[in-house]
Amino acid sequence: MSARTTPPLPPKPERLLLIATHNPGKRRELTALLSDLPVKLVDLLDVGISEAIVEPYERLEDNARWKAMRYAERTGLWTLADDSGLEIDALGGAPGVHSARFAGPDADDLVRIRKVLELMADVPWPQRTARFRCVIALARPGEPPVLVEGRIEGYIAFEPRGTYGFGYDPIFYIPELGKTMAELPPAMKNQISHRARAARKAREILKRWLAGE
Ligand code: IMP
Repeated sequence: MSARTTPPLPPKPERLLLIATHNPGKRRELTALLSDLPVKLVDLLDVGISEAIVEPYERLEDNARWKAMRYAERTGLWTLADDSGLEIDALGGAPGVHSARFAGPDADDLVRIRKVLELMADVPWPQRTARFRCVIALARPGEPPVLVEGRIEGYIAFEPRGTYGFGYDPIFYIPELGKTMAELPPAMKNQISHRARAARKAREILKRWLAGE
């Protein structure tokens, strides 16, 4: 290069966004939902944090806010925390914020689904209304988190159907589609789910942050 040539600019360091989760289903969905942003997504294991995540509060909003702030301060990274759950009207909103631990700490998705179906055995169809809610908190170190929410309404099916997705997807029936959430291929779930609706709002905030706001 001659002394009169302007040297190329050094490459911009890549912006990291920490997804505060150990749940591979959530990580997979959020990666797809935010794939058009110029950020590199990392999760807690990627940054060496392996201990169980504590969710101390009784509201999705408070847990999401707390997780986003805690991990943004701890890592110095922009952080996205999602707290989500299934609210079943006939069960007074349960499992709600306790969705992940509904049948005990060691239960898996199948055991949790069986527990819901047992509790709902005598509930007739019109009363089987439910919704998935997802609250996403976005935090930058030293700043208060920003919260967004997405939800989808449906019914609790009488038996599980479908193999896609995770968690309670096989028993969450969406009347407009005539299918359970687990019968929707990932690309379709990512159009309509509670997490997709919240993530679209989060994406707009991240775009503004990336533009320097
Ligand atoms: P969190 O990690 O406390 O947000 O736990 C949320 C729990 O709610 C998950 O472990 C699932 O059991 C359930 N859940 C959240 N989102 C979904 C979803 O998209 N499909 C099915 N179940 C979900």
